[in-house]
Amino acid sequence: MTAKKRVAILISGRGSNMTALINAAKSPDYPAEIIGVFSNRVAAPGLDVARAEGIPTATLAQSSFASRLAFDEALTGILEGWDTDIVCMAGFMRILTPEFTNRWLGRAINIHPSLLPAYKGLDTHARALADGVTEAGCTVHFVTPGLDEGPAILQARVPVHPGDTPDDLAARVLVEEHRLYPEALRLLASGQVAYPQ
Ligand code: GRF
Repeated sequence: MTAKKRVAILISGRGSNMTALINAAKSPDYPAEIIGVFSNRVAAPGLDVARAEGIPTATLAQSSFASRLAFDEALTGILEGWDTDIVCMAGFMRILTPEFTNRWLGRAINIHPSLLPAYKGLDTHARALADGVTEAGCTVHFVTPGLDEGPAILQARVPVHPGDTPDDLAARVLVEEHRLYPEALRLLASGQVAYPQ
């Protein structure tokens, strides 16, 4: 087997998608290894999970930087220090500069809890329910300068049930996220998908 791709995960919170990727990468035939976890929030619970798995972690506080670009340059420095091949954003609640997204174009992916291009941004489940949709889901996509706009790699669909609350729907979609993200990373790391030229 060719060398495993070196994957860094960016989180801001609980990191359940991060955990799904870490668990998938434990399989000997998985084409990627998780070599670092970064958070822009020092108190992100997911950091403790990563540390317990023996994975190196790093954090940066936005307040320490004069500009968004300076933060993103420091983040790229951390990722380069880990010799990162692929960046996986997993609940990373931060707008990235075009300099950052272009630096990692084709090698950075994100999971979003909607059937993109529908419901970019925040509060996806509440907005979908308010519109009366009958189907929801999640998307793994390449990261580009436009928020939640990059080309999709995989999508998963779930039904919306009568009386669903946003939390009900989020929980149903999250089950699919945990299945979809490792599958999408497997496709990218093994070269079965690539950023469309
Ligand atoms: C997930 O729903 C993800 O799709 C969205 O933020 C949530 C993060 O959850 N971008 P977790 O931190 O992976 O548990």
